[in-house]
Amino acid sequence: MNEMSKEIIFSRAVIQKRVQEMADQISGDYAGSDLVIIGILKGAFIFMADLIRMMNIPCKVDFVRVASYGAGAESFGKVVMTKDIETSIRGRDILIVEDIVETGLTLQYLAGWLKERNPRSLKVCAFLDKRKRRKVSFEADYVGFTIDDGFVVGYGLDFNEQYRFLPEVYVIKQ
Ligand code: IMP
Repeated sequence: MNEMSKEIIFSRAVIQKRVQEMADQISGDYAGSDLVIIGILKGAFIFMADLIRMMNIPCKVDFVRVASYGAGAESFGKVVMTKDIETSIRGRDILIVEDIVETGLTLQYLAGWLKERNPRSLKVCAFLDKRKRRKVSFEADYVGFTIDDGFVVGYGLDFNEQYRFLPEVYVIKQ
């Protein structure tokens, strides 16, 4: 596959500063609670790893895998869970960590799925938010950066499984 043209939008330094701010806020909000952080694979793994290491409170971690995209950049509009959590979340404080919210379909589905297990609380932390692309009404409780339309890669986010390893965030240029 040819290298695609892309332009940096968030440098390492900008990302680290914002993630530290989010970690501080979350540490304050969840001090003394029984926090379980649930990351959505694969995209959230790098953000989540940075976030929990910058927090100063303990937490447990688990992962789900939710597929909403096929090859390429267009959503199918259908969400399928392919890996469930392995931790009991009943009566616990749950924070879902996601790489990016676009239509809102993935998080609407996942929040509904997890709420059925009666957590004490359930909130969502998203690294990026493409607010203008919503198909359902959904608001994340913590958002790193709000971005305009455009397909972004790096810091865990992929295009056809490429570019997840990049430490910065880039927008793909058409
Ligand atoms: P939603 O269900 O439409 O909110 O889509 C969320 C999922 O779509 C994310 O977890 C990503 O996997 C994927 N996604 C949406 N926009 C982008 C993007 O710009 N780059 C990479 N993945 C994206």
